[in-house]
Amino acid sequence: MSMHEFEALIVGAGGAGLYAALEASRAARTAVISKLHPMRSHTGAAQGGIGAALGNIEEDKPEWHAFDTIKGGDYLVDQEAAIILAEDAVRAVYDLENRGLPFSRTEQGRIDQRRFGGHTRNFGEAAVRRSCYAADRTGHMILQTLYQQCIKNEVSFYDEFQVLDVLIENGKTAGLVALQLATGELHVFRAKAILFATGGFGQIFRTTSNAFANTGDGPALLLRRGVPLEDMEFFQFHPTGIRGMGILITEGVRGEGGILRNRKKERFMERYAPTLLDLAPRDMVSRAIMEEIRAGDGIRGDRRIDDYVHLDATHLGKKVIEAKLPDIADFCRTYLGLDPADAAIPVQPTAHYAMGGIPTDNDGRVLADGSGALIEGLYAAGECACVSVHGANRLGTNSLVDLVVYGRRAGQNIARYVEATDFTPVGKEPEAAARSLIDSLTRGKGPHGGKIREEMKDLMMEKVGIYRNEEDMLKAVTELEKLRDRYREVRAQDSSKRYNTDLLEIFELQNMLDLALVTAASAANRRESRGAHAREDYPERDDENWLKHTMAWLNGGEVRIDYRAVDISRFEPKPRAY
Ligand code: FUM
Repeated sequence: MSMHEFEALIVGAGGAGLYAALEASRAARTAVISKLHPMRSHTGAAQGGIGAALGNIEEDKPEWHAFDTIKGGDYLVDQEAAIILAEDAVRAVYDLENRGLPFSRTEQGRIDQRRFGGHTRNFGEAAVRRSCYAADRTGHMILQTLYQQCIKNEVSFYDEFQVLDVLIENGKTAGLVALQLATGELHVFRAKAILFATGGFGQIFRTTSNAFANTGDGPALLLRRGVPLEDMEFFQFHPTGIRGMGILITEGVRGEGGILRNRKKERFMERYAPTLLDLAPRDMVSRAIMEEIRAGDGIRGDRRIDDYVHLDATHLGKKVIEAKLPDIADFCRTYLGLDPADAAIPVQPTAHYAMGGIPTDNDGRVLADGSGALIEGLYAAGECACVSVHGANRLGTNSLVDLVVYGRRAGQNIARYVEATDFTPVGKEPEAAARSLIDSLTRGKGPHGGKIREEMKDLMMEKVGIYRNEEDMLKAVTELEKLRDRYREVRAQDSSKRYNTDLLEIFELQNMLDLALVTAASAANRRESRGAHAREDYPERDDENWLKHTMAWLNGGEVRIDYRAVDISRFEPKPRAY
């Protein structure tokens, strides 16, 4: 067992983790622990841009951006958090530019901006060009820019380490225990502050745009340590995943003018969102696609679960596609054998983004409950966190804004916190729980976890997907409880130390099962429709009873639910229309 000591520890090397590390490292000895090499982090999958009201192409204002974020989130957004997001986005984009991010440019050399879903001028009048982009590789460019800045700041990196335990002594953060995948060795990291930025958990669904690594390790670990999770019922389906695969086709295609068409070649969004059309928020577009399929107007038209619609970008022309959407063109050639300049892209909604997660205040500090109490020295940022700036439905481009704005704020708070704080002693044998977990999973014989994983994905997709109802969700909860029971029998089939990915997948499966259960139970509990949570049995939004955040704890196998007030201090909740 190896022992390390850092003032600040960041778990996860995507945009939020790297930005937090960058800020923390100005004042604190900082390390980043990640199960992947940083350049493989899922931030790289955010293709189409980062929203900021620069007004480079047409008039725009942070206030309009904040309003769109709040309305897009169906008023479950904490409004002060949204205002911070929109105002700081402008600074953040110029900061990234100054650090070397190669944004796409206008002919005049300014940062170019494209349209994106739900982003409007003057409180909903028409779509506005707000998304700053680097072709369709914006997330990748953010990762590369921040990683090189972290290296410059002498941040230490522990790549391919899986965190197994977080050490909290008398309510104060003391460190964590991680498994080095290359050697099978356990490492204890003492720290004054720890930030979780482990990304999303789209892998709980059958069809997802998320990477295999997106298994929610951070939130699940904290959940088992008694931390609640907020608004887990809100999971976003991105309208345009490649049919049958879920691989993301950026909303930037529609931002550049791409059009969704049904079997009859109709631009069906005209019927669902007459003003914003294909650039309505994702929850509405995903449901519109499903409505077309349910009505028999999906392509093939036999109302089968794998019916789809077309995303038509042929009229954009090869030159625009190759310059502004080169990766998308490559994906289409590789996975579909078609060129989007010549043929429409077959698409279906794909599980994309968790609006809920580890509850935090506006400085990334983790909340212990709905009263605002904090867990000292514990932080979260990015998709695994819930600030809550996305509410019931996130707008495209706002995930990258969230990473850089709230990753930075958390890093700055950590820098201040560690200066005023001593290390908390860790108990004797801090690695004992992690060691006994590994022992129990590698000793004796038991089934492989693969079947449980597959059943969970189907269950979540079918019963807690785009459309939901009480009966299905309660069935999902019961079935997930059974899967969690079966999980106890699972054993690693591989007993080797080095790169034991079999063992890694068992840890990940436990994390996903816990998060799936909390997601299903939180969804069954919320008896209204709001944003991405669309209930067939309660089709209306119900502000009187449900304008509140869900806080869910997992005690043993039981999900306990409480609530937290929503900040509606700036914009009065109104019905959404686009
Ligand atoms: O469609 C996209 O490019 C995805 C971006 C996002 O999720 O913000």
